[in-house]
Amino acid sequence: MALDVNAIRNDFPILSRVLPNGHPLVYFDNAATSQKPKCVIDAMTQYYEQYNSNAHRANHTLADEATQALESARNKISSYFGTNPENMIYTSGATEAINLVAYGWARYNLQKGDVIVITEMEHHADIVPWQELSKEKGVEVRYVPINTESFTLDMEAFDVALDGAKLVCVVHTSNVLGIRNPVEEIILKSHAVGSRVLLDCAQGAPHERISFDNMDADFIAISAHKMAGPTGIGCLLVKSDVMDKMGPFMTGGSMIRRVTTDGSTFQEGHAMFETGTPRIAEAIGWGAAVDWLSNFDMKEVHAHVHNLAHFASQEMSKINGIRIFGDPSRSDSSGAVSFLHDSIQSQDLAILLDEGGFAVRTGHHCAQPLMDALGVPSTNRASFWIYNTEEEVESFVKHLRYICDRFS
Ligand code: ALA
Repeated sequence: MALDVNAIRNDFPILSRVLPNGHPLVYFDNAATSQKPKCVIDAMTQYYEQYNSNAHRANHTLADEATQALESARNKISSYFGTNPENMIYTSGATEAINLVAYGWARYNLQKGDVIVITEMEHHADIVPWQELSKEKGVEVRYVPINTESFTLDMEAFDVALDGAKLVCVVHTSNVLGIRNPVEEIILKSHAVGSRVLLDCAQGAPHERISFDNMDADFIAISAHKMAGPTGIGCLLVKSDVMDKMGPFMTGGSMIRRVTTDGSTFQEGHAMFETGTPRIAEAIGWGAAVDWLSNFDMKEVHAHVHNLAHFASQEMSKINGIRIFGDPSRSDSSGAVSFLHDSIQSQDLAILLDEGGFAVRTGHHCAQPLMDALGVPSTNRASFWIYNTEEEVESFVKHLRYICDRFS
């Protein structure tokens, strides 16, 4: 059954916004952050209006309610991702989740000379922690290149890079290209050589039902705000035997068992990695978001988003001077369409699109090694999600054609 996109749009108050220039908002910056349905906004408001309190600290009614809501959100979010609450560590987002793998696992388990395999397609969040760890520990970081014709990972180079690997870190779906990597093959091959695997699912989770236990990755990093949840929260999913070998990353309140002037002992399991006051409102909002998303079949969401991206890219490629990066015709490709005009600067193009009410992202998308591989400093990117429509895409293409005809 196809998605009822009009009904879905009614759940998002912001989608009826008219911009100061009089144009209705057409929001195509979903890979940066998705909009939030009213139920998420309401759940967070209700917490602040009715039971705002710290969690896991006191014995009054509000504190109990806040603690219960925080843990109930963990139960539903972990269940949504096909795993147990014990395997989920709340973080501020995918970036902190990846840093937690670097400093809470790799720092304790890898030695000088050990190999970490990453790819040219990674977001900076999955590059810089490994570069920094390399300086600190002397681990070797190997980069798997992309094939710039097909925009896919060079899997032959991956096979070569895998030799001696202790950790493989791969983005599930590229935030620039929309390409979904062959993560199942990557996990199997990595495990076959005894390597752990970290998947950056920040862009994958809004388009695909991620099932941690079934996928068999050792770590999965996720951000809430790209999947209808609030900013400021995400999680790291970790296999139990791997979590047992992790050590503290950030230290302070909440994560301790006993502190004396001689030293400290720590909590076990996810509690060891959740330092300071938890992100209570954000967890409650994310819980409401997964409840809302559970109303939909993610295969239908993917099909809808993929169809919009494919249609958009087909129409955009008919415009003189427009070049598309990625292959939105691939059925596994998600909703990101990166593009450039051969004579209009990407910043100028974005401003001209905004004048028509169209919100797209511009820049290097926190993926400068990928930009280097593509031979460009930046791209424009239109990224679609569950509430976008074919009519929006048609009006976007019309406005883009008008700009290109007028200014090039
Ligand atoms: N990484 C996010 C993006 O691609 C912010 O826009």
